[in-house]
Amino acid sequence: MSSSHIPAIASQTWRRTEADDGFFISTDPALLSVAAVNEAFGRDFLYWAKPVPEKAMRQMLYGSRCFGAYYTDPNGVQQQIGLARMVTDNATFAYLTDVYVLPEHQGRGLGRWLIECVAEVFHPTNMPCLRRIMLVTGDQRMQDFYQRIFGMKVVGHEVREDMGKMLTFLCARPNAQS
Ligand SMILES: CC(C)(COP(=O)(O)OP(=O)(O)OC[C@H]1O[C@@H](n2cnc3c(N)ncnc32)[C@H](O)[C@@H]1OP(=O)(O)O)[C@@H](O)C(=O)NCCC(=O)NCCS
Repeated sequence: MSSSHIPAIASQTWRRTEADDGFFISTDPALLSVAAVNEAFGRDFLYWAKPVPEKAMRQMLYGSRCFGAYYTDPNGVQQQIGLARMVTDNATFAYLTDVYVLPEHQGRGLGRWLIECVAEVFHPTNMPCLRRIMLVTGDQRMQDFYQRIFGMKVVGHEVREDMGKMLTFLCARPNAQS
């Protein structure tokens, strides 16, 4: 094995056992839709994002550990309806960003489920050398939510006049005992 060899990471897919409602979450890069994510980036509800050239979007998505949320309608048509993106070395550090569920599918527990899947993969039992998970949010409800799920602490703030928001920087140290 050459020193540059990195073992392939197996994809995971989650379905809700209590309700086969057509929603599922997957880390399979082949399922990601560059067009769907760029379309979401162009909508007002993603206050931090703007569409980017397709080449940059491919680099962004395939260079990250992405958790896609998908909906398969009764006719079998599949659509990407959400994303959570970990910018990570898959061993020691991870930065969570671009978390969204399309407005037409919000309020059904999908956002919570998406983050729970991220927390499962980036858990000390799966990633024993993980030192830090970080993220930035401009939303108090989401801050509370991330603090509950990841046990994150506030480590700083940034006033963003261009967004009309104060951003909060959060950090978790999952293996702080080691
Ligand atoms: C945040 C978001 C992903 C939640 O998705 P969702 O499927 O509607 O969320 P759920 O129904 O699973 O709720 C999960 C948690 O999200 C939070 N939440 C839900 N709706 C929210 C909203 N409109 N605004 C802020 N937080 C919200 C709540 O804290 C909730 O936790 P609780 O169930 O313990 O109260 C979704 O509202 C969204 O895409 N918002 C716009 C983009 C965004 O702000 N992303 C987060 C950036 S840090």
